[in-house]
Amino acid sequence: MYDIILRVHRFSPEESQTHTSAPNAIAHDKSATDASALNATAQPSSAPTSRSTTTDGKSPVPRGRKWTHDYRLTVSEHTNMLDCLLRIKRTQDPSLAFRYSCGHGMCGSDAVAINGIPRLLCLTKITTTFDDKAAPQPPDSTSTHIIEVAPLPAFPVVRDLIVDLEPMFSQIRRLTPYLKESGALRTLPNGKVNVFEYLQHPEELEAFDQLTNCIACGVCEGACPIYVQGTPFIGPAAAVAAGRFIFDSREGATQERFDAIDDSAGIWPCKGIRLCTQRCPRGIDISGSIWKIMKAIKANKEKQEFIHTKTAA
Ligand code: SF4
Ligand code: FES
Repeated sequence: MYDIILRVHRFSPEESQTHTSAPNAIAHDKSATDASALNATAQPSSAPTSRSTTTDGKSPVPRGRKWTHDYRLTVSEHTNMLDCLLRIKRTQDPSLAFRYSCGHGMCGSDAVAINGIPRLLCLTKITTTFDDKAAPQPPDSTSTHIIEVAPLPAFPVVRDLIVDLEPMFSQIRRLTPYLKESGALRTLPNGKVNVFEYLQHPEELEAFDQLTNCIACGVCEGACPIYVQGTPFIGPAAAVAAGRFIFDSREGATQERFDAIDDSAGIWPCKGIRLCTQRCPRGIDISGSIWKIMKAIKANKEKQEFIHTKTAA
């Protein structure tokens, strides 16, 4: 068993500021009493709460009260971060707000920064956080581990650990994430035209299959320093959504998709830092896919230029 302190970054938006003059811990057990003592020294927050502007420059910066709140728990080595927050909510502080749904890495709704690293709550065992370089040090020589939990960087904070992922969703929506098939029907081995479905060879599927695993959690965006600092950039998640269709052999609007991301605020701000790939909970090689998209755009331009020159000659 481990004694841990969860140092949670709290945020209360301006409208409800008057209701939260002090963090509202409810004591049901000894750990809650300890938490109350810790809470007496609420500390100023230094964690990132939001980007000042999104890539479309429209998202407002939320205004409100920020503070950190320490919760003490005794947990087993199998406990994950979502278990910890649920226990706090049930036994210590029902006012703590965070988002989750499936509990096993499929819905993508519980991305936060744990010790400064974007991760999903439900897939993060507490023991994996103990060696984090940025983990806060305990105030004395006890074996208590402090784990800092903050909202996902790069997005406006709605309340506590809940951020507004709409900037990411709107970027993905703008890239029309659905197949625009070419209309060219495949011929079956027996010579008949297949009018019912667009067939694909396994190797064609392989070209984009990994990208279909994206759950739009936003971890890659929170991990990308280019995106977090507010540089106009479609962001890694939208790049994955674009690649999903660019590399699909059935797609008929590839040129349109290239045009949508081929500018200085599109895919090109990526500097290949690869933190997106390192953090993706679905194991997607985001950085590698972005590089392949860039290569495909360049090859397409060269092809267009060649055709243009030949036609002009
Ligand atoms: S690419 Fe990975 S990290 Fe990024 S949104 Fe999709 S699943 Fe999440
Ligand atoms: S709760 Fe669904 S991914 Fe973590």
